[in-house]
Amino acid sequence: MVANLIKGKEIALALREKFGQEIMSLGHKPHLAVILVGNDEASLIYDRNKQKAAIEAGMDCDLHHLPEETTEAEVLALIDNLNEDKNIHGVMVQLPLPKHIDSRKIIEHIKPEKDVDGFTPQNAGLLSVKDERAIVSATPAGILYLLKTVHKSLAGMHAVIIGRSNIVGKPLAALLLNNDCTVTVVHTKTRNLPEITKQADILIAACGKAKMVKADWVKEGATVIDVGINRINGKLCGDVDFDEVVNKAAYITPVPGGVGPMTIAMLLENTYQAYRQSKA
Ligand code: GUN
Repeated sequence: MVANLIKGKEIALALREKFGQEIMSLGHKPHLAVILVGNDEASLIYDRNKQKAAIEAGMDCDLHHLPEETTEAEVLALIDNLNEDKNIHGVMVQLPLPKHIDSRKIIEHIKPEKDVDGFTPQNAGLLSVKDERAIVSATPAGILYLLKTVHKSLAGMHAVIIGRSNIVGKPLAALLLNNDCTVTVVHTKTRNLPEITKQADILIAACGKAKMVKADWVKEGATVIDVGINRINGKLCGDVDFDEVVNKAAYITPVPGGVGPMTIAMLLENTYQAYRQSKA
């Protein structure tokens, strides 16, 4: 079996064009503020891509790029200003933050209704009780969208998620449970990992280890979603050993061009949602 590719890049582009048309007909622009502290190269590239995508979709987007030595109090003060500004609909702080800044404190300072990353306790809680007001974090939302392009219903499917981060693993587990999957979350302390992953109808790799998932970890005909972004000798690769697993799975996301572009599209969707809710 050679897997079909789930082409996140194309799907994301179509979504962004759809938002662009809807936003054009609004007559107003949803406005996103992105905060980046320090000079992490990858983060700067992501945030510039987010800004470019937002502007192409007809939104306003400011990138607040602050120096590495910015204090926690200064970041909190900027968030205060953005929280109070009626013309700003979405606020996101790029992670990771420099070590002298407490990420939880920063995230919890964002007004939940402007928290377009869905990282505040309020939005995480609303998601876990399946409340439709939840702003759902962008990567899990993008993964669900991709899964729905290849499966009419996810009900009863066994989804195994490798990784328990607050950004991907945990919110994705809640989202897939809300969509009637049977969900298993495995992590660094899990015993007999391949035995569990081999049971997955849907296998999601979000462990941050290059090419960790091998063909013998995967059930024949599974759907495999690769959230990893790693580099080996400068070349991008995911957490899945693509060349092996492509011969075992029925569907697979490539890296690059799979989950990554969907995260940006869903961030724009969340900003648009926050904008609509601000007018409701
Ligand atoms: N760092 C890695 N992924 C993300 C994300 O989705 N949002 C933010 N804010 N930071 C990240």
